[in-house]
Amino acid sequence: MIEEIKKIKDEVLLKLGKIKNSQALKDLEVEYLGRKGRLTGFLKNISSLSVEEKKTIGKLANEVKNELKEKVLEIKNVINGKKKSGSAVDVTVPGKKIARGHLHPLTQVQYELEEMFVSLGFMVLDGPELESDFFNFEALNIPSYHPARDMQDTFYIDVGKEGDKEGVQEKSDLVMRTQTSPMQVRAMREYGAPLRCVIPGRVFRNEDLDDCHDTTFDQIEGLMVGEDISLANLISVLKEMMSGIFKREVEIRVRPGYFPFVEPGIEVDAKCTICGGKGCSTCKHTGWLEMIGAGMVHPNVLKAGGIDPDKFSGFAFGLGTTRLVMMKYGIEDIRVFNGGDMRFLEQF
Ligand code: FA5
Repeated sequence: MIEEIKKIKDEVLLKLGKIKNSQALKDLEVEYLGRKGRLTGFLKNISSLSVEEKKTIGKLANEVKNELKEKVLEIKNVINGKKKSGSAVDVTVPGKKIARGHLHPLTQVQYELEEMFVSLGFMVLDGPELESDFFNFEALNIPSYHPARDMQDTFYIDVGKEGDKEGVQEKSDLVMRTQTSPMQVRAMREYGAPLRCVIPGRVFRNEDLDDCHDTTFDQIEGLMVGEDISLANLISVLKEMMSGIFKREVEIRVRPGYFPFVEPGIEVDAKCTICGGKGCSTCKHTGWLEMIGAGMVHPNVLKAGGIDPDKFSGFAFGLGTTRLVMMKYGIEDIRVFNGGDMRFLEQF
């Protein structure tokens, strides 16, 4: 009898798995669990059993009956759309909310900078990360023998030439750009003077890593060419940019700086927001962090861009966007930007 009950249970479960509509479910319920149903029959006959059998068989039959009733109810709910089925797809159930990502903090600040410069009448341009030696160095007044190349050691790209045996690489004049400055000459050649543009983007250098130096970081280049453009124009634009991004007073200092493509050249430091100027590992214990290289565009660069230096002058700057974001949010170590750690990224 015990075997018989178990067999009925298996049979019902098997049939329940295939049930598609409420009529079939009703029929199955009547057949097994109804007043004259097969399982109910066992319970009715229980009185004829011995006390011992009553205990075991009666208990089992009741358990199976209750379990099957629960299953029937479950399936009824699925058919009536009240519950999700494990096998069938209920298209009426609301979908799972997919977590939405957001922009990287660098991109957020880049967009803020772009918006600010557009409001000042600047165009936003994009340039190649894989750049020619000519635009990255030569056109910027840095010939191959110039010691200034050492300041921006980078990754030179060797390329295979058509017809080469597999694996044979030719030296090329392509470099991963070390700065966004090559876009100065490209923009001048494309648009001529007068010109106002910014070029945000990623740059690459062969650097020793530390808290404020990475091998891959972001810059935004600014260029303004016109008649009578002066250093005073440059400094006022830089001040506007810094206060626009920090949305509060940030102490900056301007000092002379050397870049072969500007004359005169300046560098702009921000007071370290990590230590408040006291000195820490992020600012190399100086209290200041170098943020911007800038100056008046060198006549040779204007010439390389096809612009007459006797008629036009211009200023240019290159801001380290990654360092700007560090100072804006008090981020101590530059390596977190490209580390891919979601715990860092989720804070923005
Ligand atoms: C330049 O890259 C010049 N192209 C800037 C320039 C543009 C000067 C136009 C004149 C006219 P520099 O190497 O100093 O300069 O870099 C500019 C800024 O990029 C620095 O002030 C700093 O904020 C950031 N920077 C430089 N090296 C790194 C690095 N390894 N990791 C992170 N940020 C860096």
